Amino acid sequence: MTIYLFVHEAILREVAQVEDIARELDRDDQAEIDALSERLAWFQKMVRRHEDSEEKVLFPALNERIRFVAETYKFDHDDFEVHVFEGIERALTGLARANGKYDRRENAGLLYRESVALHEHMRLHITKENELLIPKLEVEFDVPEQAEIAGAMAGVFDPQLMAETVNFTYGWHTADDREEMIRFLRGILPEEAFGGLTNHLKSNNADSWSEIERRIPDL
Ligand SMILES: [Fe+2]
Ligand SMILES: [Fe+2]
Repeated sequence: MTIYLFVHEAILREVAQVEDIARELDRDDQAEIDALSERLAWFQKMVRRHEDSEEKVLFPALNERIRFVAETYKFDHDDFEVHVFEGIERALTGLARANGKYDRRENAGLLYRESVALHEHMRLHITKENELLIPKLEVEFDVPEQAEIAGAMAGVFDPQLMAETVNFTYGWHTADDREEMIRFLRGILPEEAFGGLTNHLKSNNADSWSEIERRIPDL
């Protein structure tokens, strides 16, 4: 479940940074607001697909062995959409359409509060998955079964979003973690898909890619 834990860690770092950005945001700078909107729109799409992969693969597999585990996690996912992402979207739209100084200040304040909610909801949900769910998975399924589950979860992502998600995850990790992640993906992905993925990583990370090539010479 290496890649799964790496993605979780990247999500947590991203929401912490979004909270910082929302706190420091220049509410009069529309370019800054647009950049944050774009970043969050992609993030929401990726999180939704991550949740799909859990709901379609991981939770049903666990539910066959332990009843009433999966429902509680799906409940959180459904709650995110209405109570977290819609709140963020409302605040960003309000800020973009704000009329006058007072309205801008109100909406910037709302955006900051919603970004704190996003961070806190994700922190609790992902910590629960890491500390309660994954240990259960490791007891119930042997290593080949876990690899099969991880491969099926990766299959829920189309190749483009998969490449973008790995690139996002790469950006939040150290060289050791990146190396582990890439070696793992080489083991589970078909050759062509893996080639497309490494091309995407290479073109987006010119500064750090030579270190990966040094560590994995046969890449
Ligand atoms: Fe989840
Ligand atoms: Fe998750």
